[in-house]
Amino acid sequence: MNESDLSALRRRYEDIKSKHYALDLTRGKPGKPQLDLSMGMLDVVKNSADCSAEDGLDCRNYGLLDGLPEAKRLFSDLLSIPAENILVAGNSSLNLMYDCIIRAMQFGVYGSERPWGKEKSVKFLCPVPGYDRHFAICESLGIEMISVPMTAEGPDMDTVERLVSSDPAVKGIWCVPKYSNPSGITYSDEVVRRFASLRPAAPDFRIFWDNAYAVHDFYPENKAQLLDIFSEAKKLGPKSENMIMYFASTSKITFPGSGVAIMAASRDNLEQIKKLMFYQTIGYDKINQMRHVKYFGSADGIRRHMEEHAKLLRPKFEIVCETLERELGGKGVAEWTPPLGGYFVSLNVLPGCARRVYELCRDAGVKLTEAGATYPYHRDPDDRNLRIAPTFPNNDDLQLAMDILCLCVLLASEEAKQ
Ligand SMILES: Cc1ncc(COP(=O)(O)O)c(C=O)c1O
Repeated sequence: MNESDLSALRRRYEDIKSKHYALDLTRGKPGKPQLDLSMGMLDVVKNSADCSAEDGLDCRNYGLLDGLPEAKRLFSDLLSIPAENILVAGNSSLNLMYDCIIRAMQFGVYGSERPWGKEKSVKFLCPVPGYDRHFAICESLGIEMISVPMTAEGPDMDTVERLVSSDPAVKGIWCVPKYSNPSGITYSDEVVRRFASLRPAAPDFRIFWDNAYAVHDFYPENKAQLLDIFSEAKKLGPKSENMIMYFASTSKITFPGSGVAIMAASRDNLEQIKKLMFYQTIGYDKINQMRHVKYFGSADGIRRHMEEHAKLLRPKFEIVCETLERELGGKGVAEWTPPLGGYFVSLNVLPGCARRVYELCRDAGVKLTEAGATYPYHRDPDDRNLRIAPTFPNNDDLQLAMDILCLCVLLASEEAKQ
């Protein structure tokens, strides 16, 4: 590209800027049509009979700290985890993860008397790019974060194994094993097996397996398959099984903020956790659990519901990926992988350009998640990664925002080459 091409890009950019758009690609949340899919759920619990759980317990009252048996069964069928290993809780899995870490800091984990908070240093491995709120939990608690690169198959397991087996201060790792936030990568069978086989230097090491996008596939005929980590760990014995803390929720199945979250863990882990939870709450919102049970009826009910979400989400992700391909494909200025599910597209631009693209977009009226947000401490060492969240805007706005984003990538890349 020569000087006049750069001038042409700048002219196009100034022209767009003068239109004062207000577009937003930051929000990883369902659009209104997706939320409307679940409205029927608000009508399925109408009278006292609807509140009667299968063991006779009245959902409207206190009781059942670990959730309704029928809710456990629903998630057990959906996620292929034995119901006895599941605790059905409140509206947020992030809340469960936070509490898990706070409990470990204060009381230690099952099998270890020593609270993490008494250690001189506590470290977590953070596959990058990753979910900013995982990193925010660590940052807020003074847990040192160590970035581990993601590969096309999941975290770089040579690095994970080396750090976990050699450093007893490494107490945990964040994982989003299916349709990872933001890369969309699903961990390969080998990666899952290597996680189950970890031999940590710390006896109280835990894997935070955040399966937030377990059933969030776009293509019914082309779903990513995630190996069940619990089955793999069980083959290796209780030490392996006890490493795994599993989380999921219906935030992006029904209503974010008003869904149902679950935690799954070994029997020993759950017993220790429930003993401590006793002081925290008498129980979670069982009426909402009952709404979910009655509305879906079965795990297949949830799977059918997710096909309706997919019909709304496919065109959005196709707008993103087709626009990237059309505008940037083959130009050597950006890399991305079209995801098969989840909520995000991860865009890598030329090193040193992500912040500039973010600023150009911002000034042209397109809000992007801040450059660096997908890395611990907001520090992307190569200043390359941007997270695109296409679910919330309508398709016309999304198309416009993507056109502008691509122009900004071209402009930033060209500026960097000058
Ligand atoms: C990977 C991941 N985990 C957890 C959450 C939040 O889940 P919840 O609403 O259940 O707290 C999100 C939301 O974007 C997410 O992307």
